[in-house]
Amino acid sequence: MTEAKEGAATGAPIIEGWSRDGFLGERAGLVRAHYSPDYISVRGPHAPRRLNIGDVACADATDPLALPTVFATAASGLRLSLSRRCAPMPFVLRNVEAEEVHFIQDGEMEFRTDYGVIVGTPGDFVHIPRCVAYTVRPLKGAVLDFIVESPVNLYFDTPSPAGMIHFGNHVLRAGPEVAPPADAPLELWLKSFDDVTVFTKAHDPLAAHRLLAAQSPVWKLNLAHIQPVTYWPHGGPPSHFLASPNNEVLFYTLSARPGGRPPIHVNADYEEIVHYFRGPDPWGKVSEPGTFTWVPKGVPHQGPSENVERGYLAFLLETRTTLRLTKAGLEASQLMETGTYGRHASDHGGV
Ligand SMILES: [Fe+2]
Repeated sequence: MTEAKEGAATGAPIIEGWSRDGFLGERAGLVRAHYSPDYISVRGPHAPRRLNIGDVACADATDPLALPTVFATAASGLRLSLSRRCAPMPFVLRNVEAEEVHFIQDGEMEFRTDYGVIVGTPGDFVHIPRCVAYTVRPLKGAVLDFIVESPVNLYFDTPSPAGMIHFGNHVLRAGPEVAPPADAPLELWLKSFDDVTVFTKAHDPLAAHRLLAAQSPVWKLNLAHIQPVTYWPHGGPPSHFLASPNNEVLFYTLSARPGGRPPIHVNADYEEIVHYFRGPDPWGKVSEPGTFTWVPKGVPHQGPSENVERGYLAFLLETRTTLRLTKAGLEASQLMETGTYGRHASDHGGV
């Protein structure tokens, strides 16, 4: 008996849910005759896939002038990209279309921004709001940076002001520069939906005397410092911690927690991306740090148990907009079964 089908194998009724607005809205359920996440084969772009972000070839690994490599896109402008930058960015970048959330999988990198300096370390989310200029410098180890570009603004949104995140201790704001680099002409790149527009500036565009606002809008928070919310004894839905005003984009911790296995369900409104940062324990068939899993909306799925003894760290990203992997993403990916998120039996490589 595999974990993927244990309900069917024990003769328990196979209950499939349908949920509107993710975990926040109307719900319905039915009893299926068969384990509905199963499929024999699939063709077309709206299929569940998994990949290790370390397997995506990144242009900025060898070319300091390259931008991060996009591996998934959406009609809304949301993009997922990867950076393996090994040399400082020789320009300053301002994204005019999107908020950027950088998740640091490996290595350490310095973000020097309009609103201070902050160092990203493994497991950190680093938030660069729209139109805040920044430049990046790798500091230690081989950098692997998973970037979510959200066309809608993102704000903290937790079930209560305290408990899930200790905002005073764990949300760290960018601080003033201790030793600014020598002033010099530098290019300021404005990144828009269609291209990059380059301004050559006579001085360092990030140079500033002091911050006037109460706090920097640039912050970081480590995944390990976000407490998973659970409903004893069954687990229940996870809770998001970061959201856009109309919930087009939601970030959750999906790290290990007590409770039962998730129900089989169809998510009517959201793409579900779970990124497994690291163990020690596996999450179902996912055990390699840096594994990205994607279940497109409308695809029946269950997912592995989140109740594992030694724990793991993962996050869930939900997007209303439909995602598509790019060529770079497809080439690194495999078809995925949606019981325990292993490689699907029909996957024989290629796309
Ligand atoms: Fe789900």
